[in-house]
Amino acid sequence: MGVFASTDGQESAGHEQIVFCQDKQTGLKAIIGIYSTALGPALGGTRFYPYATEADALHDVLELSRGMAYKNALAGLDLGGGKAVIWGDPEQVKSEALLRAYGRFVESLAGRYYTACDVGTYVADMDIIARETRYVTGRSVEHGGAGDSSILTAWGVFQGMRAAAEHVWGSPTLAGRRVGVAGLGKVGKYLVGHLIDDGASVVATDVNERALDWARQTYPQVDLVADAGALISSDIDVYAPCALGGALNDETVPALRAKIVTGAANNQLAHPGIDKVLADRGVLYTPDYVVNAGGVIQVADEIEGFNFERAKLRATRIFDTTRQILRLADAEGVPPAAAADRLAERRMAEVGRLRTIHLA
Ligand SMILES: NC(=O)c1ccc[n+]([C@@H]2O[C@H](COP(=O)([O-])OP(=O)(O)OC[C@H]3O[C@@H](n4cnc5c(N)ncnc54)[C@H](O)[C@@H]3O)[C@@H](O)[C@H]2O)c1
Repeated sequence: MGVFASTDGQESAGHEQIVFCQDKQTGLKAIIGIYSTALGPALGGTRFYPYATEADALHDVLELSRGMAYKNALAGLDLGGGKAVIWGDPEQVKSEALLRAYGRFVESLAGRYYTACDVGTYVADMDIIARETRYVTGRSVEHGGAGDSSILTAWGVFQGMRAAAEHVWGSPTLAGRRVGVAGLGKVGKYLVGHLIDDGASVVATDVNERALDWARQTYPQVDLVADAGALISSDIDVYAPCALGGALNDETVPALRAKIVTGAANNQLAHPGIDKVLADRGVLYTPDYVVNAGGVIQVADEIEGFNFERAKLRATRIFDTTRQILRLADAEGVPPAAAADRLAERRMAEVGRLRTIHLA
């Protein structure tokens, strides 16, 4: 795999810095990937995962750090894109010493990279890492942290959905529309609340009986269906994937009856060509990394000293960004995912260039 040039596709081209970190005593093996610091320090979480091989871990950190650069750019943050992976099974090897060893490597980058939670790492881990480095966010409320990021993630998804509704139906509201929510987890639950408040009718599904019970108790007006297959083939106007990645694939897209897809799940497109299939079927897809940026907006705000109202205002702007992307997609005749990438690249180039203006 080429790190300095793309030998196996796009993902490994163009990273600024890739740092391999090892501490034999604790068993720490970590890779920190910095894709870009054009807009500011790179921000992205630490994934703690038992990758099959070192190459898999490297592949993941390269892809994820690149994704964060685009996400942070379109979230309007003065932050670049980075991510880290710790290679190992967190159940087996996670310890105070390992996390603190990792924190010292983060500190050694002197603020070029800020870490946060991701799969396999939690707020309590960030508090431990913070004993060795200043460059960590996503901390516990007792340590000035922002708490549950799914609140603003759901708010941002709702804003993106409003912008899509305006684009398709002329008015930025879901009132009178039927929205299918797949996944009533941390984000899906808040999203259902926003939709009901806006006057939408909701149909939902989850694999977890407790999540379904929550819906029965809290929103008895929500219709529940057996699975995501039943949800997407039902008579819905909007599909909101809020569970796992790959929700839009060669099986689900042909069955989809919705006109809009807007949801919280990461990596909704099972493969790059599927957004073209969506567009050909007349389905408007709002890129996942744009509409689910509320969470990163929240943890980024923590770096300044968390202020919920300020962070919410920033997450509300996901409406404007989504609207801009959809208009650009129309103007340039490309799917929204391509328009989003262009807009992110434009901001990184235009704002990033300003750092060449010398300050005395
Ligand atoms: N929490 C955040 O701030 C945040 C930020 C950005 C992106 N995301 C993404 O949004 C998605 C949801 O995040 P979350 O924090 O709500 O996670 P979660 O784990 O709390 O909720 C996911 C829910 O989906 C359900 N589910 C799993 N498989 C399903 C299936 N096949 N059909 C229907 N339901 C299924 C689970 O039972 C669970 O209730 C994830 O993809 C996550 O990566 C979350």
